[in-house]
Amino acid sequence: MSTAPHFEIDVADFWRDPYPALARMRREAPIAFVPQLGSTLLTRRDDIFVSEKRIDVFSSDQPAGLMTRLMGHNMMRKDGDAHMAERSIFFPAVSPKAVRAHWRAEFQQHADRILDQIGGAGRADLLAEFALPLSGECLKSVTGLTNVRFSEIDAWSQAMIEGIANYTGDPAVEARCHAATGGIDAAIDDMLPVVRKTPNHSLLSVMIHGGMPEANVRHNIKLAISGGQNEPRKAIAGTVWALLTHPGQFERVAAGKTEWLQVFEEFARWISPIGMSPRRIARATSVNGVDFAPDDRVFLMFGSANRDEAHFANADRFDLARDTARSIAFGAGPHFCAGAAASRAMIADVALPSVFARLRGLRLDDSEPVRIGGWAFRGLFNLPVVWEV
Ligand code: HEM
Repeated sequence: MSTAPHFEIDVADFWRDPYPALARMRREAPIAFVPQLGSTLLTRRDDIFVSEKRIDVFSSDQPAGLMTRLMGHNMMRKDGDAHMAERSIFFPAVSPKAVRAHWRAEFQQHADRILDQIGGAGRADLLAEFALPLSGECLKSVTGLTNVRFSEIDAWSQAMIEGIANYTGDPAVEARCHAATGGIDAAIDDMLPVVRKTPNHSLLSVMIHGGMPEANVRHNIKLAISGGQNEPRKAIAGTVWALLTHPGQFERVAAGKTEWLQVFEEFARWISPIGMSPRRIARATSVNGVDFAPDDRVFLMFGSANRDEAHFANADRFDLARDTARSIAFGAGPHFCAGAAASRAMIADVALPSVFARLRGLRLDDSEPVRIGGWAFRGLFNLPVVWEV
């Protein structure tokens, strides 16, 4: 165990709103051992920014970890050459160039179709009826699993996320995760002969034709589904909610003073959809007077980094005029989100402009409260809205 000072949290409070406790940690114990999480947390942006790149110490390889055990040894849990060998085959399918050339137009078609379906209703849970199907349809396109329903993508993503956070070992949670990975393998089984015969731009096709062993392709498709559905879904709903609850900020967008991309970037700084990324200490080291021993578990707290008052004035405020360049919502090291360009296109180029152009007079439906929670993955659970028809 590290020699970091202990910092106690109330897990339920931390889930409801982690930001007050994280602010105290940044102030009083920026590297803190939190007994309730069995982990040492790095909470200041600069410590995370530097440490994340020291892969010889802050290793992503966690053979005994739940992700590796339940989803297979994907690139997110590899270091150095082993990581880069897979990332360089994966990345061309989702690079900024590929997103511009293939995905953006396809994402727009998905958004238009979904908005055609819900537009006449005048009310919806925008998370369930727009953000969820849109991110699912986009992920079907990107992964190449066009043989499944968006609801399956969403359920699999959820089951894997719960499985890899199942630190208490609940057998029902683990069984749901196994069912999800089994479902993904069956979907891959069906699509493999198709892309082998007729290559396309999808991750499945690009990885298979790029020479990645089939087992690793399967692991990385599961990684893309676990990370690529939940976060855009929450970010789309969350960014719409942020604008609806900050009318002064929304006026900046309406007046053309702020681009949609900046709206998304500031939202992802303010409420980072992935609040934490875990690491394993590979060899004894010392950071700012704290000693770490091999196999200590470390959480890089991106959500806290993005509220670090050393970099962001009035960090708790959603403020579209701020410079978000120092936000690390997509990470800050070699594992920087491979889906960042796809997410920016899906959310800033497609989802936000389409929602506000098509759903005139959009506002919150005050008859039902918006629910928000989480610290490792944070975001909305619903977004009840009404608009003019
Ligand atoms: C709002 C949307 C998203 C956010 C905020 C987000 C955030 C992140 C973060 C914080 C990491 C970990 C970085 C690190 O540990 O340094 C990550 C990794 C990753 N993300 Fe995303 N992500 C999003 C969407 C997506 C999408 C849509 C995909 C797939 C198409 C995706 C695929 C990945 C992959 C494959 C990795 C691992 C990269 C590697 O190991 O090299 N993400 N993401």
